[in-house]
Order: sequence, then structure tokens, then C-alpha cells
Amino acid sequence: MTTPRPETLAKLTPVLTRRWLSPDAWRIGAYENLDGYAALRKALKAHPDDLIQLIKDSGLRGRGGAGFPTGLKWGFIPQGDGKPHYLVVNADEGEPGTCKDLPLMTHDPHSLVEGVIIASYAIRASRAYIYIRGEAVHAARRLRNAVAEAQAKGYLGRNILGTGFDLELVVHSGAGAYICGEETALLDSLEGFRGQPRLRPPFPATHGLYASPTVVNNVGTIASVPYIVLGGADWWKSMGTEKSSGPMIYSLSGRIVNPGQFECGLGVTLRELIELAGGMQPGHQLRFWTPGGSSTPLLTAEHLDVPLDFEGVAAAGSILGTTATQIFSDQDCPVYATYRWLEFYHHESCGKCTPCREGNYWMVRVYRRILAGQGTHEDLDTLLDTCDNILGRSFCGLGDGATSSVTSSLQYFKQDYLDYIEGRTAPKLSDKQLVGAH
Ligand SMILES: Cc1cc2nc3c(=O)[nH]c(=O)nc-3n(C[C@H](O)[C@H](O)[C@H](O)COP(=O)(O)O)c2cc1C
Ligand code: SF4
Repeated sequence: MTTPRPETLAKLTPVLTRRWLSPDAWRIGAYENLDGYAALRKALKAHPDDLIQLIKDSGLRGRGGAGFPTGLKWGFIPQGDGKPHYLVVNADEGEPGTCKDLPLMTHDPHSLVEGVIIASYAIRASRAYIYIRGEAVHAARRLRNAVAEAQAKGYLGRNILGTGFDLELVVHSGAGAYICGEETALLDSLEGFRGQPRLRPPFPATHGLYASPTVVNNVGTIASVPYIVLGGADWWKSMGTEKSSGPMIYSLSGRIVNPGQFECGLGVTLRELIELAGGMQPGHQLRFWTPGGSSTPLLTAEHLDVPLDFEGVAAAGSILGTTATQIFSDQDCPVYATYRWLEFYHHESCGKCTPCREGNYWMVRVYRRILAGQGTHEDLDTLLDTCDNILGRSFCGLGDGATSSVTSSLQYFKQDYLDYIEGRTAPKLSDKQLVGAH
């Protein structure tokens, strides 16, 4: 294990994670003692439009993967339209490797509840939902408990803190489908339908939940709001980079000594994150990694100094995504890792559109063949051709995301594929696992 140098330790900027280690921070008393609900009191004295402007000024960008500017999204909600408005928090967190929202909701659920109340006040919503992944039972319990505590204290319900603002907050558990993290599939699921993406336009800002104006934001996005209200836009922008402001929770997993969540200003590098995580495990050399979950193209040891912000990662040919860095070493096989991710996408494809439904089905079969030592050189062309027919031709981002590791692993690690095909690497799958691969 390597001990991080002081200059690297200084990269840690605990903002959203700062209460995680405080005893009982998930209970309202402890939360209030640590500035909890002070931002709400301040926000309720401001005009809702000024809050939207504050979020615009802060440069906050969505933490759910696409990095869309949050203030702009809130500003799209039509005002004075006579329709109910909704805030929906996307707490589905199903991307392989991603683990930032669940720990936040488990350790500090009130920061999300407080953010929900402020955001709802800003967009003039009187009903909000947190759509949480069904398997996340413990986090859901903590959240429901936080909602009940906030209600009992007058932070939720009717006439909040005597201001005349009403808000009902519902914690809704999904049934555990990755596609229900896609915002329009989430809305269908919340309405009681099968979770499948909707055709856009119209967009949720005008026709969202129950065909009414709706903001859908990630957990980390909404939990950032109280800090911005208290600290101000300039303070928020003092962290991160010019176009990617603020701190970000990076979740590190894989071949490092201390996996976990590390909150740093956007723009930290993987080299620094690995140092913070105690270095690579003994005997392991970094070989490939995902900057933002399995839907983002793989990067390699050449990219250790890429700034992990929206622009830096894009310039390196990948996507910042959910800042889930999964770290693989020289003892891991990029072909097998890609196959395992594809199994996931194949399983989670909702089946609505042909490129994703059929393409992932076939690609899994081609990978099984290659990994069983029965692949051909043409299989590599078939994989690239299939990706070409999925990327940009699928109905939603799940299809596009499935192609990321296929094309990037072929770009950087074609030799590994050839070693299976030409018999230099021993097969990883047996003939028994080949059923349906031809
Ligand atoms: C297949 C798929 C799964 C997604 N899963 C999530 C998720 O679990 N959580 C999330 O916040 N966003 C997820 N997204 C992105 C959402 O559609 C949406 O962009 C996001 O919730 C917007 O919030 P933000 O602006 O705060 O980032 C997913 C997108 C796709 C295509
Ligand atoms: S891309 Fe996949 S998950 Fe998305 S709509 Fe098409 S079949 Fe469903």
C-alpha cells in the first residue's frame, strides 16, 4: 500500500461526503447539528426564480451521466401554466461499477431530502418522488425514515416553516431494471407501466410525469443544491474546472488497495485517485479502466493523467459518465471483461428496438465463441459491424452504451482477441457454455 502524498491528499474535497463518517448523521438531530436544513430556511426566503438563477450561476451539471446543466433544465419548466409540476429524483443507480448515490442516501439521506424541498420550491412543484432501485432496501429504509423525520419537524407537508409552500415527497422503490434509470422509462414505470423509454420530443420538461412539466435529476445533483444555497455559486465554482464546476464523488473499484468513494474537484486524474486509494494491489499493473461505468469507452495506462471532467474525458475519446472508475490490471482480460458487460446489456435490454435487442443477443454469442477458442477473424468484423448498427440507431442510450467496451477494447486490445482466435490464449469458456453461440 502506498501512502498518498500531502499534495495528493489535498485533492480530496469532502462536500457531499463530509457527514458520512459522523455518528448517526442519517438522523435528523445529528443532521441539524451539522448545518442541516439551514439551506432550506435560507432558500425559502428567496424568490424561486432567484434560486434557479443561483443554480445556473454555479454551473452545476447533472451527476447522472450526461452532465446537462441543472439550472437550464429547471428553467425549462413553464411557469403559470396551471398544471401540476413534479420533481423526480433518479435514484436507480444501475450502471455496473457505479456506487455513489446509494452510499449518499444511506449515510446522509437528509441532504437529499433537503435538496428535494429546495428544488421543488424553485420549480414550483408540490409533489416530488425519489425513484430508488428496488434492491436498495437499506437505503430506501433510511430515506423513508428521513422523510418521516422531516415531515414531523415541519420541513415537509403543508405550509412548510410557515411559508405557505406545500410539498409531499414519496419514496418509490422500483423493481430493479437498469432501463428504469433512463429518465423516460423511469417515468413510465412510476406511472405503473412497463419501464420502457418514451419517444422524445415532447420532453419531460413539458410532458413528463402524468403528461405534466417534470424535472428528472440524479441524486448527486439534487444533494448538491443545499451546499450551493449555503456556500454560493462562486464557492462552488472554486472547485472543479471552468466548464465542469464543483466536487464529484468518484467511485473506485477493482485492483486497488482501498476501493470506495473519493470526493474531489472535477478534473482530478486517475493517477491521483489511485494514489488516494492506496495504490494498485501488490503485483498488479494498471492495464485498462472505465472512467464512468461500463457504458463509457475503456481507457488505458496511457490515460492516467487525463483530467476527469466532462471535457477532459471527451477529449481522450471516452465519457465521464457516472465517474465510476473500474480498474483492471495486467492479470485481467479485456475480452472477458467486455463479454461480461455485454451479458449485462443483453439481459437488461428492454426489447423495444431492434438494434439493441438483436445486436446484443448476437454479440454475446460471438464473444462466447471467441472465448471458447472457436472464434474466427471474421467475428471481429461482425462485432464492429454490429456496433455500427447499434450506435446512433438505438432508441435510447442503453444500446449506445453497450457498444462502448466492444469498440474500445478492439481499438486498444485487438491482440488479445487474436490470441484467443489463433490459439495462443487458453479458452476461458467450455463447450458447455457455448450453447447457442453458432
Ligand atoms: C440505460 C440508462 C440508465 C440510466 N440510469 C441512470 C441512473 O441510474 N441514475 C441517473 O441519475 N441517471 C441515469 N441515466 C440518465 C438519465 O436518463 C438522466 O439523464 C438523468 O437522470 C438526468 O439527471 P441529471 O441531469 O441530474 O444528471 C440513465 C440513462 C440510460 C440511458
Ligand atoms: S436501446 Fe435497448 S433498452 Fe433502449 S429502447 Fe432500445 S431495446 Fe430498449
